[in-house]
Amino acid sequence: MLLVSTLYESLADALEALIDGGVYAAGSRMPSIRALSKQRNLSVTTCVNAYHELERRGRLESKPRAGFNVLARSPLSFVQPSTISVRNRPTPINTQQRIRRMLEAAGDPRVVNFGAANPHPSFLPGVSLERSYRQVLRSQRHRCLGQEFPPGAIELRTVITRRLAAFQVYTSPDELLITNGCQEAVTIALKLTTCPGDVVAIESPTYYGLLEVLRALGLRAIEIPANSEDGISIEALRLAATEWKVVALIIIANHSNPLGVTLSDRKKQSILALAEELDFSIVEDDVYGDLPIAGHRPRPLKAWDHNQRVYYCASATKTVSPGLRIGWLLPGRGDMQKAIHLQYVSTVSVQSVGQFVLTEYLARSHVDRQRRLMAKEFDLCRIRMLNEIANTFPKGTQVTNPQGGFVIWVELPHDADTVETMARALQDGIAFAPGTLFSVNKRFKNCLRLNAAMKWSDRTRNALGQLSEYFR
Ligand SMILES: Cc1ncc(COP(=O)(O)O)c(C=O)c1O
Repeated sequence: MLLVSTLYESLADALEALIDGGVYAAGSRMPSIRALSKQRNLSVTTCVNAYHELERRGRLESKPRAGFNVLARSPLSFVQPSTISVRNRPTPINTQQRIRRMLEAAGDPRVVNFGAANPHPSFLPGVSLERSYRQVLRSQRHRCLGQEFPPGAIELRTVITRRLAAFQVYTSPDELLITNGCQEAVTIALKLTTCPGDVVAIESPTYYGLLEVLRALGLRAIEIPANSEDGISIEALRLAATEWKVVALIIIANHSNPLGVTLSDRKKQSILALAEELDFSIVEDDVYGDLPIAGHRPRPLKAWDHNQRVYYCASATKTVSPGLRIGWLLPGRGDMQKAIHLQYVSTVSVQSVGQFVLTEYLARSHVDRQRRLMAKEFDLCRIRMLNEIANTFPKGTQVTNPQGGFVIWVELPHDADTVETMARALQDGIAFAPGTLFSVNKRFKNCLRLNAAMKWSDRTRNALGQLSEYFR
């Protein structure tokens, strides 16, 4: 296995050198797989893998029935979005109608959806899920028709507990609450750790859904600057938590939304140490953790949490199906009974069929392979998108280059106004998330977030080209 991967990588390196040297110019077609295999006396598999590797590096593009073409070199640099001042004040959250418009657009098939961060359904394991649905409805019909009261189906809690142990989060099924998506997990975690009016620290920029939960609970947010290189600033967090009585921090430590940053293990431990020192809780949102482009699944902060300070939240939304609406919460500090009650009061329970279907699906042996393939597909989509941005967006545009997940953060020149552009784009059937959604202080007006887990086609490419036109 190792030998094969070395071989295709060496071949990819050699071909990349030829592309750099102008032997294969931008726009030209690469030799066919068969010709390359003959030329180099290498197996077809090695050649296919080498081409895919070059596609991953953003040097080639595959076209149906037309082979592999050389892409123009990206003039973009992967630079961090500029950081913001630390001297913020806690701010009440304002209602954001734009989220509603974006969600409406996501459900409209006429719209090219770069907005809501859901993978295109063609990437999701539809066939496997269909099998699971059939199986579950056949074998557990009565239970499916009934209700699984909190904390949720024991089988599902057991499967998830086993999966958590694979990345060093050791717990028991009795400590896990099945929730209606990650959003409910975060909501319950915040209800357990805060009271209305409390100050909660958030990364800036951060996922707008989290800001909406804070608003709904009457909490105040203090924005802590983050960048796409190493995430949240610990110095700024320390400063803010010392100046304001921060009771909780919400953090997406793995493949964050929108910056795509994954914190180092050391940084995760430093944040925990700071929480111990300054006595605040941590609500960890790990929805993207299962989607690294390569290498091991990163550990969440929860893996080092020896004092039950971290309230761990995740879901099957990004990797199995957003429509299932199933997530989970590991409440800290033995708050399980309170968590169960909070869920019962607000939603009574989580749909039973979905819980059994997810159990059936997660118990299969090929799930991890499927997930790795999915992450690779997202990676290809992301690279195509970055190349298109590089070729069409105005000079001075900066982008993030995440190592997991599937969102891209774009910083346009300072005079760009993505809020104003959103209305025009929606009229033209294009949705994206304007930067101001990701801040309670309406920062990032010249930024936007794109969902890269799109089915790539001429329609997608044209929509991206059209988007770039608005900023010219
Ligand atoms: C960071 C983050 N947390 C939570 C959610 C919501 O997850 P769920 O659909 O499982 O409630 C999303 C969805 O986009 C997200 O990006």
